[in-house]
Amino acid sequence: MKLVKTIQEVREEVKKARGSGKVVGFVPTMGALHQGHLSLVKRARNECSFVVVSIFVNPTQFGPGEDFARYPRQLSADLTLLEKERVEIVFAPSTEEMYPADSSTVVEVPKLSKVLEGKFRPGHFRGVCTVVVKLFNIVQPDFAYFGWKDAQQLIIIKQMVRDLNFPLTVVGCPTVREADGLAASSRNVYLSERQRALAPVLYQTLKLMEAMVKAKKITETRKLVRAGRQFLMRHSGLQLQYLKAVDSRTLQPVPRVKPGVLVAAAVKVGRVRLIDNILF
Ligand code: PAF
Repeated sequence: MKLVKTIQEVREEVKKARGSGKVVGFVPTMGALHQGHLSLVKRARNECSFVVVSIFVNPTQFGPGEDFARYPRQLSADLTLLEKERVEIVFAPSTEEMYPADSSTVVEVPKLSKVLEGKFRPGHFRGVCTVVVKLFNIVQPDFAYFGWKDAQQLIIIKQMVRDLNFPLTVVGCPTVREADGLAASSRNVYLSERQRALAPVLYQTLKLMEAMVKAKKITETRKLVRAGRQFLMRHSGLQLQYLKAVDSRTLQPVPRVKPGVLVAAAVKVGRVRLIDNILF
């Protein structure tokens, strides 16, 4: 495994790999790796002969007052984990390498970015799209791996790849969960013991909603969301930001649950924000 810090070095490494007929798989991350990231890396390892992982805490996707400064950074622990997964290249650039002082272009998928997370984190997806486009241009992968945990991010990136004709396939991978259902996230380390005990209620709410649909008790999304809200509100200490049933391509509300409907939610437990979703 090679740790590289400059764009030129990644380009050279990927060029050599391509020259010897390798298929390039790419997993973009912000580090603080957990089982969710490792599932993406394992999938890339299974499907590709050359695996690149980037570690870059991207400042442009954090809003004012968000957790950019305290976001966990643990490069040497991350490198140990990636070494075990037999990754070829870890690209860990500096902020100056990714965003030279005179850089000014941004990339945005406007409609999909304004809803759900976009309402609470204005500008977030502009930062994500801008850095992901840059990373795609730097690494030029055949396959890029993203988790369903960040469903809106995945849907936006798929749209962006179609719109901008990137010659690569975006692969969405299942959410990895702790034993009690909490979705793996780098931000889970912020949870106190009491908050950690409360956090699985988010997934329990989504599972309850899924069970109601499966039992054919509810098909109208309005009623389904109301039932989910009521369950969640019973747990004090959780502050619901949104719970919505939307079409997973357009992210617009739909009247009835059917295959392709995404139920997405965000809650705050103290200062910690948790997101999760289920796809019908
Ligand atoms: O999902 C993440 O960790 C980030 O949003 C990504 C895709 C690495 C871009 O910074």
